[in-house]
Amino acid sequence: MAVIIDGKALSAKLKNNLKDEVEALKGEGIETCLAVIIVGDNPASRVYVNNKKKSCAELGIKSLEYALPEDTTEEELLSLIDELNSDDSVDGILCQLPLPKHICEKNVINSISPRKDVDAFHPENVGHIMIGDYTFLPCTPAGVMEMLKEYEIEIAGKNCVVVGRSNIVGKPMTMLLLKENATVTVCHSRTKDLASFTREADILVSAVGKVGLITADMVKENAVVIDVAINRLESGKLCGDVDFENVKEKASFITPVPGGVGPMTIAVLMKNTVKAAENRKNR
Ligand code: GUN
Repeated sequence: MAVIIDGKALSAKLKNNLKDEVEALKGEGIETCLAVIIVGDNPASRVYVNNKKKSCAELGIKSLEYALPEDTTEEELLSLIDELNSDDSVDGILCQLPLPKHICEKNVINSISPRKDVDAFHPENVGHIMIGDYTFLPCTPAGVMEMLKEYEIEIAGKNCVVVGRSNIVGKPMTMLLLKENATVTVCHSRTKDLASFTREADILVSAVGKVGLITADMVKENAVVIDVAINRLESGKLCGDVDFENVKEKASFITPVPGGVGPMTIAVLMKNTVKAAENRKNR
């Protein structure tokens, strides 16, 4: 049976390491501050934002919440971001996605100052990730890399298969694995015979959002299986893309949902926020 990767414990450890840095910055007169924007009342977004604010509080990071109504115009949102960009007491700005349909996400992402873009979604930061010289780590993929490091899972030369090609997870995940010298294959909704690719994976990362997508017959014996998805079942229970109960019998390492990748995303977000505060000195 696989080792279950404990994202909750590792996230707590990483966040604890950041506490001293936040304290040291305070000693230098810098109060680390993250501005979190949420538009509308998407229940999943509300849970994510609450978790982010809770982590800030645990670390002594000040968090400002801007909860805007569903009918906020793009202009109003961009104007708020403009204000936060020029506010020297704000280190990081995060606008929770998805946004209501009438707001163009691209315009919003592009409007956040790259120096405050703790999600690393701005094209300038995406470019840095592509080249490999980044300041801000892409939160979810970097969280996965922290897990692989903690559990001493070798990456160089391994066959890694990433299922999903989103800008938030799939694409940056590919870049980080490539940086560590993996051979990376990206699969997506138009991939023919997904199983023929996943069966070759030493490390399989699934980030699609489809319950039951990865079944045990699609996984190689002793593979490392990382489940990035968070799906809600009708019962209200959370689960990922992977058939956890059966795949865990075959894999060498596996992440649970919840308690796997999710908490790691927040740990990296906190790391980016502290980095942004440290960079205040260079502003
Ligand atoms: N929506 C889903 N994941 C994320 C994330 O990492 N950051 C933001 N801003 N929105 C999200």
